[in-house]
Amino acid sequence: MFPKLLLLALASASVVLAAPAPPTPSDTQILQYALTLEYLENAFYTGALDKYDAKAFTDAGFAPWVRARFEQIMDHEKTHVKFLQTALGSAAPQACNYTFPYNDPESFVQLAMGIEGVGAAAYLGASKYISDKDTLTAAASILAVEQRQVGWMSSAVLKEQPWDGPFETPLGLSAVYSLASPFITSCPSSNPALPVITLPAFKLPAASPWPGATISLTFDNPNNASPTFVAWFSGLDVVFTTIDGNKNTVVPTGLQGTVYAGVVSSDTMPLADSDMVTGLTIVQFPFDSMAAEVDNA
Ligand SMILES: *[C@@H]1O[C@H](CO)[C@@H](O)[C@H](O)[C@H]1NC(C)=O
Repeated sequence: MFPKLLLLALASASVVLAAPAPPTPSDTQILQYALTLEYLENAFYTGALDKYDAKAFTDAGFAPWVRARFEQIMDHEKTHVKFLQTALGSAAPQACNYTFPYNDPESFVQLAMGIEGVGAAAYLGASKYISDKDTLTAAASILAVEQRQVGWMSSAVLKEQPWDGPFETPLGLSAVYSLASPFITSCPSSNPALPVITLPAFKLPAASPWPGATISLTFDNPNNASPTFVAWFSGLDVVFTTIDGNKNTVVPTGLQGTVYAGVVSSDTMPLADSDMVTGLTIVQFPFDSMAAEVDNA
């Protein structure tokens, strides 16, 4: 009896000690957050296209138009940076230093598809915080282009599915930042704080796990959240799978395309940043043109 009561007391103490929920971010904070991601994308494309010339792309097996289109995408990102800098004026943060784990044109393209998808999910997830309607339209206009870029990379270049289903996936601010922050090595100390909490990194044992398979997870659980679940973000839906005492979970069936997975302490929607135990990882469930699509709403 006593240990159980003690556990309950500890559990409620941890609730009291948890950080207060961050206030709703302002439009300025959302634009600063967006500019932070656009700086990252701009540095990513500029660095890769500086490194790999037209011959490097064709030697890697890509048609000549692939690199040329990536130059157009690089120009889009530069334009997004300028646009957001202008909108923010003196509130604009500065660019950071970055590191990107590609080592040839092929791994660059794979990473580009991941980064663009996260960028689009960031705009979609942040849209609910934007109160000024014209700002919302501008953000939606950028989002639409980023999503076209993802569709072009995944289908025309990588010959995979051009979309994931009837709905795009919105992601929370901290969830997105957990996917972007590994690429950021240092930022000017004068930059404003972003409206995010830092989450432990999370990876699955395979980037394309087999639906229905039992997989064993490794992750940090700094606040000893219990029970824990894996949240699989797919379109407007989140599928939850329970994590057992051996840190095993069962990969859901019926997911398609790019899905984002992370450990959470609640299986109830809507999820808040404070429900995230870890950051997210990108999971792929490729499907071919003859597959019946799952309506993941
Ligand atoms: C980026 O790296 C350079 C070279 O290491 C360093 O001089 C500079 O201060 C760094 N900038 C930021 C924003 O951290």
